[in-house]
Amino acid sequence: MSIYRIAHLSDPHLPPPPGAFRWKDVFTKRLLSRIAWRRKRKVHRPEVLAALVADLKAAGPDHVVISGDLTNFASRTEIAAARTWLESLGNPTDFTVSPGNHDALAGSAEVERFATWTPWLGDNGATDFPQVRVRGPVAIFNLCSAVRTAPHLATGRLGEEQLSRLDALLGDPTYKNLFRLVTLHHPPQKGAVAKRKELEDQAELRKILAKHGADLVLHGHAHESLIGSVPGPNGAVIPVLGVPSASSGPRGHSPARWHMIEIEGRQVRVVARGVEPDREGLSELGRYTLTDISG
Ligand SMILES: [Fe+2]
Ligand SMILES: [Fe+2]
Repeated sequence: MSIYRIAHLSDPHLPPPPGAFRWKDVFTKRLLSRIAWRRKRKVHRPEVLAALVADLKAAGPDHVVISGDLTNFASRTEIAAARTWLESLGNPTDFTVSPGNHDALAGSAEVERFATWTPWLGDNGATDFPQVRVRGPVAIFNLCSAVRTAPHLATGRLGEEQLSRLDALLGDPTYKNLFRLVTLHHPPQKGAVAKRKELEDQAELRKILAKHGADLVLHGHAHESLIGSVPGPNGAVIPVLGVPSASSGPRGHSPARWHMIEIEGRQVRVVARGVEPDREGLSELGRYTLTDISG
């Protein structure tokens, strides 16, 4: 049986281009985020992200999942700069983007907010969610938990409409024999992040996952490596993996890393590669199979 390889990176928080902030944003959430960015610019480093992308490209994955927070304030210039970065990575059909809360800070109206990134969201040219992409033996159910929030909050929400469509799609027999991979920005399990950062309708999402099952959930947002799980049908366990920010420096709390997820039938092996203090480039940090944690 051949192996299908999906690379997972998250939260690049690309450096804001000049003009990403305008004085009309004074007293908005974007201003507060700009203040936060002044603190974070030492944490998120473009040279670290460039090294990580080079390492990932050299490994030649079949597909890449980017689980959100490409930007910091979701200004039009940042969203456009993020598109340029996405274009530099390769063919959009090989990359799936699930937007994060930082991508929705003060963006456009609901329906068109991620229109600039349409080719990376799914295959049907639409900007609604979920989007389903079939790649090799994998069906990727791409969700969007990115919503505008009040200052100091970083919560996410899928909403009733998206959840009801996910319910129908995960129950669709078309995808039954494929490896079902669910991607979103916010972690779906309880207590994975602080309350002010959590997915508000996580219980509803878990209910749908417990009803239909899935083989793996990938998320970002926590800026650290998390291995968790949510209940599947009939006592089964669905593994949930989070990866640190792709641009964190080597001396930070959770240095940059990416995961290669090797899928062989229902078997999954994860290879973690990341930056380490006093080492050039990225190196392998470890590898494990998901039966190690769920079996
Ligand atoms: Fe983030
Ligand atoms: Fe986030």
